[in-house]
Amino acid sequence: MDKKIIIAIDGFSSTGKSTLAKELAKHLGYVYVDTGAMYRAVSLFAMQNGYIGAAFFDVESLINSLPFIKLVFKFNPDLGFAEMYLNGVNVEKEIRTLEVSSYVSKVAEIHEVRVKLVEQQQEMGKNKGIVMDGRDIGTVVFPNAELKIFMTASPQTRAERRFKELTRNGADVTFEEVFKNVEERDYIDTHREDSPLIKAKDAVEFDNSNVTKQEQFEKVLQLVKL
Ligand code: DC
Repeated sequence: MDKKIIIAIDGFSSTGKSTLAKELAKHLGYVYVDTGAMYRAVSLFAMQNGYIGAAFFDVESLINSLPFIKLVFKFNPDLGFAEMYLNGVNVEKEIRTLEVSSYVSKVAEIHEVRVKLVEQQQEMGKNKGIVMDGRDIGTVVFPNAELKIFMTASPQTRAERRFKELTRNGADVTFEEVFKNVEERDYIDTHREDSPLIKAKDAVEFDNSNVTKQEQFEKVLQLVKL
């Protein structure tokens, strides 16, 4: 297939969006963009500067700092995908902690944050040949994307996946904490005013609670070749 397209993958947290997106990008020779990493990096910036904590959030200071937040994806050939750099520093590991996960949905609610990141995402996709995952890719970032996928799985399944991933990386967390975080993020992501997580009318829905990664990849690939 010579014509390059945009593939938008949206859905709830820990539905395997990034795994699928990475595989598709590799197979098609496309660029993969993890937009969640961008919201996570802004959250990390807010944490590092004392703008957000367990009981406070200085939204105004974060908004005023937005011009000083530089987000860049740099391809790592050893890993086969791009890593997130915040103001020149590789933050790929730091942005995946449960602490960042506990703040990110609040940061992603801020209109000014979304405007800045959406603009950068649209720029990255202007030459097509891109697989982008997130919450609003098929609805807001690329409403004209040629292929839109919407991924779901039960909260229990998603929390189990996330718990395995975090503990594999040495995190000291309980399953209950992870499950609570999944439920909280689902609620905020689907109820926020600006760009809530909803399935685009023309998106194809996949519930992958009981499907292997390989089966899912093959099904989606068939849609790319239509
Ligand atoms: O995909 P993820 O779990 O890494 O995303 C982290 C958070 O960022 C998620 O809870 C909601 C937010 N997000 C968003 O609002 N819009 C996107 N396009 C991507 C992520």
